[in-house]
Amino acid sequence: MSRLRIFADDRPDTPLSVSHDHADIAASLKTIGVDFEQWQATQAIKAGDAPETIIAAYRADIDRISAARGFTTVDIVSIAPDNPNREAMRTKFLDEHYHVEDEVRFFVAGSGLFSLHVDGKVYEVLCEAGDLISVPDKTTHWFDMGPEPSFVAIRFFQQADGWVGHFTGTDIAQRFPRYEAASADKSKQRLLTNLNLLLNFLEPSRWTPHGPVMHIQDNDTNAESKRELIAQAQTLFEAAKAVAGGTSLSSMHFNPMDSDLISEKLAGDIDEMKYLDLSLAYNRALESYLDATNH
Ligand SMILES: [Fe+2]
Repeated sequence: MSRLRIFADDRPDTPLSVSHDHADIAASLKTIGVDFEQWQATQAIKAGDAPETIIAAYRADIDRISAARGFTTVDIVSIAPDNPNREAMRTKFLDEHYHVEDEVRFFVAGSGLFSLHVDGKVYEVLCEAGDLISVPDKTTHWFDMGPEPSFVAIRFFQQADGWVGHFTGTDIAQRFPRYEAASADKSKQRLLTNLNLLLNFLEPSRWTPHGPVMHIQDNDTNAESKRELIAQAQTLFEAAKAVAGGTSLSSMHFNPMDSDLISEKLAGDIDEMKYLDLSLAYNRALESYLDATNH
């Protein structure tokens, strides 16, 4: 989701405002001469498409903006998270700089973080697929593609060699938030996977009157089904631990308390294990997940 955060340039920890609304973002950026638009592809495009196919899908918008701003060439830049040069590529424009021509980018896929330093404020723009941003010439700014960059963008040029970075030598960019989207997304994804595992197992129809408690029958003489249950318990335990960040397990009311014990039981006498209470784990999992997704 696209986002604009505006900071005072001496307060990198507390944004003055935050918006996720395209019209709001465009209106705020307009006040500093920055265009922010959303474009729709006129034909389906997919990862790995040839540059000509991508350009054809946005032809009308490309022609319109090129005519309005005097762009003579466009190209496509495409960076995947496993690019061996990603660190050098990320570093290149990570410090405050400006250009003597407009820097205009359309994000076909993926995302990137532009921060514009104008009149004592920092306008931090998270650009997502479908967003066009124009950074006017001489506007000081920096760009962060993140540690695992992933984007396809159309770049616009007025002169073939006009787009050179002039660095201001300040350290302001290092004091402001960096873009860590990919890793944040991955840990969210892991949370989601583990939470789904818990939720599926703990669906209310399987709950006991005491809540989400997994029962293992003492009188179950079928070793195979016990083993199955215990394996399931281990999986759930690991999922709960991962979702809760691996901390405060003692507050989760597990019985037995850890997965090593579950393994021991699997190997030996399993009759003692009567239940695995996942109610607190479930609540912790849900809280962690909602925190992580900012709900
Ligand atoms: Fe730049």
